[in-house]
Amino acid sequence: MLLLGIVASVIGVLICLQIDWFPTQGATQADQIDTLYDVLLIVSVPVFVLVMTVAIYCVIAFRAKPGETGDGAHIHGNTKLEVVWVTIPFIIVTALAIYGWIVLDDIEAKKPNELVVNVTGEQFTWSFDYPQEKAKSNELVLPVDRPVHFKIHAKDVLHSFWVPAFRMKQDAVPGIETNTRVTPNKVGTYELVCAELCGIGHATMRQEVRVVPEDEWEDWVQERREGGAAPEEGEDPIAAGREIFISSGCNACHTLDDADATAAVGPDLNELAQVAEDREGGTNAEDYVRESIVDPPAFVVDGYSGDTMPGNYGDQLTAEEIDTLVEYLLGLSQTEKGE
Ligand code: CUA
Repeated sequence: MLLLGIVASVIGVLICLQIDWFPTQGATQADQIDTLYDVLLIVSVPVFVLVMTVAIYCVIAFRAKPGETGDGAHIHGNTKLEVVWVTIPFIIVTALAIYGWIVLDDIEAKKPNELVVNVTGEQFTWSFDYPQEKAKSNELVLPVDRPVHFKIHAKDVLHSFWVPAFRMKQDAVPGIETNTRVTPNKVGTYELVCAELCGIGHATMRQEVRVVPEDEWEDWVQERREGGAAPEEGEDPIAAGREIFISSGCNACHTLDDADATAAVGPDLNELAQVAEDREGGTNAEDYVRESIVDPPAFVVDGYSGDTMPGNYGDQLTAEEIDTLVEYLLGLSQTEKGE
């Protein structure tokens, strides 16, 4: 049994360490977390193998012989064995807890020159506020190699702020502020997901995180401060609208073919121009769409709830961004109608 257990443990550990468990390492925290995970695997596999070896051995060795129907012999406890199987797991678990605590304490330590980002989670989108820069955004953009301190809030229910590439995950809890720290160290685009079941749109509560070089980030922040990324001269208004649609998280709740959005929490936007035309004897379609973005409960499409959509897009988006978005949404469905 012992020999079998040792051989199986070695094979199991080797297989586990071969598997590529983790996404890209996008932050300095990732390395320590991945090592911690590997250590847990190395400790867990022999425990699993030991339990399974003893269980399988007992099932085979002590099985009922054909025709045997009586009870087995009554066996009382074995004090020596019980002391051993309580003490060893206690030592293993305690050691791992201390190791885990040391790693967590280290990766969450306060660092100099931290960038503060207020994160707000709500059904079903994330928004970001950079208090030091006085900038707001529906997109998370971070400079590479600068420590970030996230202060996390929730407006309605529990959410969980998680960027797998950074490894750190933190609950967003209504009424309190939670914190986490990362230092992104690799330029790239990563996924931000909500890791706490928060309602019908939970699975679509995903946004992109862009980690960019410092100077590019400065430009971006400057742009946010001055009033947003309105389409520049010559820029394709459809592409600009689509970018706002996606970076604002509209795709988390609405269906829109042009943006590959398929969510059904809110009304389908492919038919938007038609809905706008049908409403109350033809209210100006543009005003209607603008109103729906800024003040969602003002007019609610049959079958949907007016308080599902966040009411703060008027603050999060600049007037120019809203113009671009309205034009984009109406332009699309009118083109489709014309075909
Ligand atoms: Cu927010 Cu799940």
